[in-house]
Amino acid sequence: MTTTNKFLERIKIHQEKGGTKKFSGTLEQYLQLLESYPNIAVLAHKRLHEQIISHGLTTLDESDHRCNKIFDGEEVKVFDYFSSQFFGMERPLEKVMRFLRSASMRGEESRQVLLLLGPVGAGKSALIEHIKGALEQCDPIYALDGCPIREEPLHLIPRSLREDFAESYGIKIEGDLCPVCRHRLIHEFGGDYTKFPITQSSFSVRGRKGVGVVPPMDPNTQDTSLLIGSEDISKLDLYPEDDPRCLSLNGAFNVGNRGIVEFVEVFKNELEFLHTMITATQEKNVPSPGKQAMIYFDGVILAHCNEAEWNKFKSEHTNEAILDRIVRVNVPYTLEFEQEVKIYKKLIGRSDFECHIAPHTLEVAAMFAVLSRLKPSNKVDPVTKMKIYNGEEIVEKGLIKKVDIKDLREEVEDEGMTGISTRFVMKAIDAALSDSTKNMITPISIRDALIKQVKEQIVNADERKVCLQCLQKSLYEDHLSILEKEITKAFVTAYEEQAESLFNNYLDHAEAYVNSTKVKDRVTNEEMEPDEKFLQTIEEQIGIKGSAKNNFRADITSYMFAKLRRGEVIDWKSYGPLREAIENKLVASVRDISRIVTKSKSRDVKQQKKFNAMVQTLMDNYGYNEDSAEEVIKFASNNLWRDS
Ligand SMILES: Nc1ncnc2c1ncn2[C@@H]1O[C@H](COP(=O)(O)OP(=O)(O)OP(=O)(O)O)[C@@H](O)[C@H]1O
Ligand SMILES: [Mg+2]
Repeated sequence: MTTTNKFLERIKIHQEKGGTKKFSGTLEQYLQLLESYPNIAVLAHKRLHEQIISHGLTTLDESDHRCNKIFDGEEVKVFDYFSSQFFGMERPLEKVMRFLRSASMRGEESRQVLLLLGPVGAGKSALIEHIKGALEQCDPIYALDGCPIREEPLHLIPRSLREDFAESYGIKIEGDLCPVCRHRLIHEFGGDYTKFPITQSSFSVRGRKGVGVVPPMDPNTQDTSLLIGSEDISKLDLYPEDDPRCLSLNGAFNVGNRGIVEFVEVFKNELEFLHTMITATQEKNVPSPGKQAMIYFDGVILAHCNEAEWNKFKSEHTNEAILDRIVRVNVPYTLEFEQEVKIYKKLIGRSDFECHIAPHTLEVAAMFAVLSRLKPSNKVDPVTKMKIYNGEEIVEKGLIKKVDIKDLREEVEDEGMTGISTRFVMKAIDAALSDSTKNMITPISIRDALIKQVKEQIVNADERKVCLQCLQKSLYEDHLSILEKEITKAFVTAYEEQAESLFNNYLDHAEAYVNSTKVKDRVTNEEMEPDEKFLQTIEEQIGIKGSAKNNFRADITSYMFAKLRRGEVIDWKSYGPLREAIENKLVASVRDISRIVTKSKSRDVKQQKKFNAMVQTLMDNYGYNEDSAEEVIKFASNNLWRDS
C-alpha cells in the first residue's frame, strides 16, 4: 500500500469515528441519560480531576531510590498523566491535584483561583497546556443547544423543583439560565422548558471551546469585553436596547465556562481588570455586558506569574481581596540534576536535531543549572549538596557522609526559585551543536558553550563570577575525575572481574584481621595470616591511615555480614567507601600505561593496539562514538596527566 493509500485509510477510520451521532434531544431524554450516568452533570473541577486521575495514580515505589533518598521515605503520589512529561515536579503536581480534588468536592477551593508561581522556564505554561490537553480528552458535555456559553441543561429546572430534583437524582443544581437562553425560552418555547433542545459539545483549545485564555493586557487597551463579551453594535439596530439577542458572549469567562479560564502573567494586569476574576470565583457569577443579570460561571481558573510580579502585587494591601481568593502553588526548578537531564532529553527529542550526544554531556549542563539554583549551606560545599539532592551517597575519608537531606532543605527557604533556567541551557546545547563540525556535543563543547553564554548574557557581575567558577573549576574537575575512571575502566581488561576479586580478597583478609583468625586460601586451603600490606594498599586509596584502619575494617565486615544475613547479595559496589578504594586502586594500577598510551604522539604497534582497544571499549560499553571518544581522550591527556 502506498503512503497515500495508507493515510486515506486512516482518514476514513477517523471520519467514521467522528461520525458517531451527536446526542440531540430534550430535557426528558437528558434526564433519562442522567439516571444511568449521573457523572455527565458534574461541575468543571470534578470533570477535570476525574479525567486526569483516570490515566492512573500510583505512589512512588519504596524500592525506588528517589523515594528514600529524595523524599525521605514519605509517600509521593505519581500521576501518570504527568509523569512521562514532567520531571522532578512531584510535589507541585501533588498540590495542583489536591486543589482540584477539594474543589471537585465543592469546597472552598472551588471558589478559588489556582496560581502557579515560579521562575522563568520552570514549566508553568507547559503544565497548564498539558492540563488543558486533559480537558480535550474528556467526553463531550451536554449543553443547551445554541447557548453561547454552552450551559448545563439542568439550568432549565425551575428553582421550585430543585429540592425535589436533588432528592430524586442526588444532584444539587447550581446556576440559572443565561440571559440568551432565558430570552429564547420565553419567546421561542413559550416558557415550556421541556421543549428546549439539548445537544452535545466537546472541548477544544484551539476552537476556544471550554478554554478561555486571557493574555496580559496593556493598561490602555484593557477592556473587560475580553473577559465577559460585549454588546454587538451591529445588532443594536435590529433589537430593542437591552435585548439579550444583542449580546456577544465571547469573553474568556464565556468560552471557558464548564472548562478552564487561564490568566497568563496575571499580575501584569490592572486591578480593575481582575475584579471580574473575584466575582467569578466568589460568587460563581460574571457580569453580563449591558444591563443584563449576572451570568453563572462554572470553571477552573488557572493563573501563572513569576515571583517579582507576585511580590509587587502582594505588597499592596488594596489587593487583599484577590489575595484571599488565591491558592498558590510554587513551581520551582528541579534541584535533582538527573531529573533536569530528562527535561533536556524531552526537549531535544522534540526538535529536529539528530546528533551524537557523548556520555555526561547533558549531566554536565544539568549540574551547572542545579548548582546555580542552590543556596549556600553551612554544612556542605555546593557540589556535595548538589549530589545529595540528587540522592547520591557521599564518601568522605572512608566514611559515608551522614548528611540529612531534610536538614539541608531546612537551612534555606524557597530554593529553586532562582538560577539558570532550562531555556538557558537549551540555548547553549543548540549553540554547541551548531558549532560542531562532527555533528555531536560533548561535555567539553557544552561547557565551552555555557561559558560563552554566561559571559554574554549574565549581566550581574557576582552571578557571572559564580557561574564561571562553577563551570571552570567545580564541574571541570568533576568531569575529569569521572573521565579518569572511565578511561581506566576501558584500559583494564575485565575490569569488573578484577574489581570483584580485589573485593573478595579484601573482605577475607579484613574479616580475619578483625576476628584475629587466619585466612584460608580459596584454592589450596592453606591457612595464612591476614595480609597487612595488601589491606593497606587498598585503604590508602581513600586516605585511611594508622589506627583508622581498625574501625574501617570492623565497619565493613559487620556491614557486609549484616547484609548477607538479610539474604542480600553483596558485591564490590555494595559499600561506597570500599568501592571507591577499589576503583582508585585499579586506576592507579594502569595510570602510567594509560598516560603513555594516550599522550604519546607516535605509538608503537603494541601501544596503538592498546589505544584502539580502549577506544573500542569506550564505544561499546560507554556510549561514545569514535569522534567523541577521541575528543575526550585528548582532553584527558592534556588536562589529567599534564606532567608527571
Ligand atoms: N520540570 C519539568 N519537567 C518537564 N519539562 C519542563 C520542566 N520544567 C521546564 N520544562 C520545559 O521547559 C520549557 C519551558 O517551560 P515553560 O515555557 O512552561 O516555562 P514557564 O514557567 O511558563 O516560563 P515563563 O515564566 O518564562 O513563561 C517547556 O518546554 C517545558 O516543557
Ligand atoms: Mg510561560
